Amino acid sequence: MSKIVVNGGKRLFGDIKISGAKNSTLKIMAAALLTDKPVILRNVPDITDVRIMIDVLRELGVEVETVGDGDIHITTSKTLKSRAPYHLVNQMRASVVVLGPLLARLGEAQFAMPGGCNIGSRKIDLHIRGLELMGAEIKIRHGYIEAKADKLCGADIHLAFPSVGATENLMMAAVLAKGKTWIRNAAKEPEILDLAKCLNEMGAKVSGAGTDTIFIHGVSKLHGVDYTIMPDRIETGTYMVAGAITNGEIFLKGARGDHLEIVISKLRQIGLEVNCYSDGIELKSKGKILSTNISTLPYAGFPTDLQAPFMALLSLAKGSSVITENVFENRFVYIDELRTLGSKIDTESHHAIVHGSQSLVGAKVKAPDLRGGAALVIAGLASKGITEISDIFHIDRGYDSMVKKLSSIGADIRRTKSSTNLQYINFNQAPRANIPTAR
Ligand code: UD1
Repeated sequence: MSKIVVNGGKRLFGDIKISGAKNSTLKIMAAALLTDKPVILRNVPDITDVRIMIDVLRELGVEVETVGDGDIHITTSKTLKSRAPYHLVNQMRASVVVLGPLLARLGEAQFAMPGGCNIGSRKIDLHIRGLELMGAEIKIRHGYIEAKADKLCGADIHLAFPSVGATENLMMAAVLAKGKTWIRNAAKEPEILDLAKCLNEMGAKVSGAGTDTIFIHGVSKLHGVDYTIMPDRIETGTYMVAGAITNGEIFLKGARGDHLEIVISKLRQIGLEVNCYSDGIELKSKGKILSTNISTLPYAGFPTDLQAPFMALLSLAKGSSVITENVFENRFVYIDELRTLGSKIDTESHHAIVHGSQSLVGAKVKAPDLRGGAALVIAGLASKGITEISDIFHIDRGYDSMVKKLSSIGADIRRTKSSTNLQYINFNQAPRANIPTAR
């Protein structure tokens, strides 16, 4: 099993190119099921979740060709299958978004019931209730969701919570449904807008995406598309934090500041200089990390996916910060690993109190999930000596070439299959750049 080994204390300096957004790509790949014409996607990140989605589509009878350089070509054959098998669905919960497109295109879908995951139970009741309102009959049998609808009909759907996945699933089902659909209290994440934009380029009639009411006028057919995926705002935020914790100066090519307004305003409060340009975002450390409080919320609130990276950053802040997780019930599992590196964090229900430390010290830690794993890499970049992170398959799910990108801007980081003997590291002599100290 591969590991990531970081020799902390190096200042990050230089440019990184931001990859296409994972959370947009996966849904737009599912949208390809809505047409029998070729779909070309560009700026697709090279990550495990995309590879799993390719397997899911292939299992459904879809032809998927990876062309290199981030392009993939998808063509749904006439013999599209309606059953998404357990062994793939189980690997990636996000594959639930094939449910709406399959139902819209074939009038039936069977989808293995996704289990819980490391960050919470992640229910899909809102997806199911919305599809039922559109006329689908849904049963759960032998661990599979079995959905049927001779013809989906438009409906007025009010989501009890602005779920990202439910908004996307219902939007995709509605584009081929008969009549008009309203999704109220819809999720407003930029990835929803990206999906709507792609669907409209395929001939759908979707308006209001990015606001809390999405209106869809069903059409009878969609055509193919050549579409470029938006930049990944979570990857951008992760590297901004990496730059901040190493007293760095970095430029994130292709990143969009308008997708990260609250994150950028938090970084400025923490003491960073952030400048947004049409071709990317520049982050400059001013040598200090101030404390702040963060509360995760649906977009345009602070993204839950950046909660863990900020926890790592605030571990080295001057003073104490409170981080509140409001979106997932179990998203603090990585905190024990951060404590191993020296972070001083108390938790109380969904609140974490982070007491800024003078320094962190490298150790062997295990990535418990995707964003928690990224937080451990970030903490490792600022720790004295060597940090070895195992279970990095979680990180590979969502970060395209993380080790390559970080080492290109000065991090001392590598992937290895062998175990590091931390005893050989003399922490006192470990190279230390000007990592800002707390006090
Ligand atoms: C997506 C993102 C994930 C991000 C999250 C919130 C992808 C692949 N993943 O996940 O990175 O952290 O949005 O921004 O795009 N819920 C229900 N019933 C439902 C659906 C959701 O109760 O039917 C609850 C969930 O358990 C969770 C909350 O709503 O507590 C948010 O879930 P949701 O917005 O659906 O997130 P995902 O689409 O799973």
